[in-house]
Amino acid sequence: MRVFSGIRPTGELHIGNYLGAIKQWIELQEKTECVFCIVDLHAVTTPYEPENLQANIKDVAIAYLAAGLNPEKCIFFVQSEVKEHTELTWLLGTITPLGDLQRMTQFKEKSKKHKEYVNAGLLNYPILMAADILLYKTDLVPVGKDQEQHVELARTIARKFNKTFGEVFKEPKVVLPKIGAKIMSLQKPAKKMSKTDDPRGCIGLFDEPEEIEKKILAAVTDTGRAIRYNPKLKPGISNLLTIYSLFSGKGIKELERKFKGKGYADFKKSLAELLINSLEPFRRKRKELLQREVYVKEILAKGQKRAQIIAQSTLQDVKKKMGLT
Ligand code: AMP
Ligand code: TRP
Repeated sequence: MRVFSGIRPTGELHIGNYLGAIKQWIELQEKTECVFCIVDLHAVTTPYEPENLQANIKDVAIAYLAAGLNPEKCIFFVQSEVKEHTELTWLLGTITPLGDLQRMTQFKEKSKKHKEYVNAGLLNYPILMAADILLYKTDLVPVGKDQEQHVELARTIARKFNKTFGEVFKEPKVVLPKIGAKIMSLQKPAKKMSKTDDPRGCIGLFDEPEEIEKKILAAVTDTGRAIRYNPKLKPGISNLLTIYSLFSGKGIKELERKFKGKGYADFKKSLAELLINSLEPFRRKRKELLQREVYVKEILAKGQKRAQIIAQSTLQDVKKKMGLT
């Protein structure tokens, strides 16, 4: 079994990303072969600052390593450093119907958002993503729900290639984040926690203890006093209970018993402490890695070499089947 996923080199990680996605990746790397790729070539399909891109790639690499990606247990590399991704993109483009690309929800949304920037790269984004996945003969692709349609297209492309030219690719399956792991904003519990939303509603994975405490104590709660899990009637407290449960490993029922008769303030103080302690290793690891730029570069260089071996072998197969060598 091989797992592949791509990480866009943008933005900071928050506890929603961690609980909804990264935690699963870290568990997967213990069980099966994992390939994680920083997708810089995808990042250039929407407006970006060239002078910041290298710094963003480094930041995101450090963030994921600090969050628990283990370079001994997974292949971790930068997309543009393995040229086979772009070469396979071209080849797969020749069997991808234009209509399929124009139908993609993300293409429609991004074209609307960046009206001045509707380039062919944006249209072809899903082909590059299919190439990422198929090059490694991937079985499982853990992504957010918004990327499901792209993985589905990768399956279609794989099937069509195999039928037209002969069997090379596996048909990858999407793995969606566990249900129940949707973390809501601390300020607007009806909305998903997101970095672009109200920053007070979002706890960064590397937030300092004072920030964590401030944000938790200011979290919106509900009427009544009881610490009870009921997402409909008590969305604020239920979200905090979910976070508490996932970081402590304790069940919701157990937490309800623990905080029976206690007020919101006591509960929030306890949660702030739990988060400060749970996130401390991430903060420490990140600070350490920020001082070890050469080490981080070496990890990515090693990842590049390992990824390339697999990618070259698949591409060779593809070219042979297509009559290109
Ligand atoms: P994004 O940064 O929104 O593209 O999300 C990256 C990954 O984190 C995806 O797999 C999402 O499903 C997951 N994720 C993002 N926000 C949340 C959230 N508030 N709760 C749970 N998972 C999330
Ligand atoms: N498009 C994905 C996103 O926006 C990132 C990505 C690129 C990816 N290539 C991939 C994810 C391959 C999974 C597999 O999040």
